[in-house]
Amino acid sequence: MEKHIYRSVYALKHGPASGVTIQSVYRDIPFRIELLTVDQTKNAHLIALLSAWRKKVLHFIPSTRPITVTGTKEWLQKRVIGEKDRLLFLVVVKDTPIGHVGLYRYNPGNNSMVIDNVIRGVPGYPGVMGEAIKTMMRWAKHTLHIRSFLVDCSSNNEKAIALYKRIGFNEVRREPLILVRTAGGNIFKDAPENHAGLIKYYRVVFRHAGF
Ligand SMILES: CC(C)(COP(=O)(O)OP(=O)(O)OC[C@H]1O[C@@H](n2cnc3c(N)ncnc32)[C@H](O)[C@@H]1OP(=O)(O)O)[C@@H](O)C(=O)NCCC(=O)NCCS
Repeated sequence: MEKHIYRSVYALKHGPASGVTIQSVYRDIPFRIELLTVDQTKNAHLIALLSAWRKKVLHFIPSTRPITVTGTKEWLQKRVIGEKDRLLFLVVVKDTPIGHVGLYRYNPGNNSMVIDNVIRGVPGYPGVMGEAIKTMMRWAKHTLHIRSFLVDCSSNNEKAIALYKRIGFNEVRREPLILVRTAGGNIFKDAPENHAGLIKYYRVVFRHAGF
C-alpha cells in the first residue's frame, strides 16, 4: 500500500496540468480545486501569485528565508512536486485562484495524512477555504484510500483554529513551541525539553472526527 500511494502521487503530479480537477459548489458558489503538476512549476504567473500570497502570510508559514519568486519556484519544484507524499491544490472560484490547500506526511501505520499549506490569498467567498479542504479530503479518501486526517497550527493562529474546528477537526494535543528569529522572519520550533523560559505558544494538533 505504501509504495502504491507514492507511485500514485508521483503519477498524478507528473500528469497533465489540471488533470486532477474536482468541481464543487458551496452555498451556490461554484469552485474547484486543481492539483498542481510539474508543468505548472514553469508557469511564471502562477509562481508570482503563490509568492505574493506567501509573502502576505509570512507570520504563519515556516520560511527561514525571505520569500522571493525564485525561492517560491524552487520550493514548489523541490519541496512540493519533489516530495513523494506531498500534494498541493489550487482553490479556484469563478476562474480566479483564491488560495491553496494541500496534503503531506502519509503515515502508512494508520493510513493518515496531514492537511498542509492552507493559504487564502484573496478575500471573499466566506467558507470556501473549509469547503476546499473537505473536497480535498473526500478526494484523498476515495482516490488514495486515506482513512484519517490531521492538521496542526500554532496556538496564536486564531483564524486557522476556527477554520479547522468549523470543518470537523477536534483538538487532540498541544506541544510547546518557541519562537526563533531567522533571516526569513520568526518561525516556531519545538521547545527543547530543558527549556527554562515561559512557554507562550503551542502547536495545536487536530484530528478530523470523520465523514
Ligand atoms: C487560515 C486561513 C486559510 C483561514 O481562512 P478564512 O478566510 O478564515 O477561511 P474561511 O473562508 O473558512 O472563512 C472566512 C470568513 O468567513 C466566515 N465564514 C466561514 N463559513 C461561513 C459561512 N458559512 N457563512 C458565513 N461566514 C462564514 C469565517 O468565520 C471567516 O470570518 P472572519 O474573516 O470574520 O474570521 C487564512 O486565515 C489564512 O490564509 N491564513 C494565513 C495562512 C495560515 O495561517 N494557514 C494555516 C497554517 S496552519
